[in-house]
Amino acid sequence: MAVGVFDSGLGGLTVLGAVTERMPDVPFVYLGDNAHTPYGVRDADDIYALTCAGVERLWEDGCDLVILACNTASAAALKRMQETWVPEDKRVLGVFVPLIEALTERGWGDNSPPREVAVKHVALFATPATVSSRAFQRELAYRAIGVDVEAQPCGGVVDAIEQGDMQLAEALVHSHVEALLRRMPRPEAAVLGCTHYPLVEHAFREALGERVDVYSQPNLVAASLADYLIRRPDMIGAGRDSAFLTTGNPVNVSRKATQFLRRQITFRAA
Ligand code: DGL
Repeated sequence: MAVGVFDSGLGGLTVLGAVTERMPDVPFVYLGDNAHTPYGVRDADDIYALTCAGVERLWEDGCDLVILACNTASAAALKRMQETWVPEDKRVLGVFVPLIEALTERGWGDNSPPREVAVKHVALFATPATVSSRAFQRELAYRAIGVDVEAQPCGGVVDAIEQGDMQLAEALVHSHVEALLRRMPRPEAAVLGCTHYPLVEHAFREALGERVDVYSQPNLVAASLADYLIRRPDMIGAGRDSAFLTTGNPVNVSRKATQFLRRQITFRAA
């Protein structure tokens, strides 16, 4: 057994990098659904079906606990999966809640009523599907009042990253940030609500300027998972084998992953 990490493609590697650094003794099995990326332009039923198939594949590999290192899957599919599909002995967790807990100054499992928080104007950058799900606003409303969220669907960014065209990805980031700043000129915080975006975080920071606090998921998710595994060590299981699986072309995916994580990564076919 091991812990599963799922994404539509390469973006979840940003989360994988942070969790392996924080928990070097825990074996992780990564699955990228590169054959179907990007998810951000698909409808909710499609994302639900693809995410369930990916999670099932990781269960087959002995991962009773799967992290959806994909905001689009977390936003469009996770609630439905948890309510109707995940069996008793398995867990599927998303990447939204740790981020929102950090933004609203809450510790894990603090279910007290929503309250005023320091931040009042939040810029959300995410895929079109995540933005239209409004899952971020819903989770935020459970925890905070009086926070104005302006969301920018960042069409094209995931595609450019998956193609390895980082110049295009950076240019798109600049134009998406400019579009958002025209509607909300002075956000105090910006949320990178897609796990691909840490790969172009420098472009977001540059376009947003120094005054904006940038919330990026990998370290927040790693801290939250470490906490969870202290409470539920049984969810790790006994196995020691980490692996990288893809529904896409393993040679191409390995090349891009090696470039992104700056260490040799070898994917095999899922
Ligand atoms: N990394 C995924 C996310 O966090 C990208 C989704 C996509 O494939 O468009 O939303």
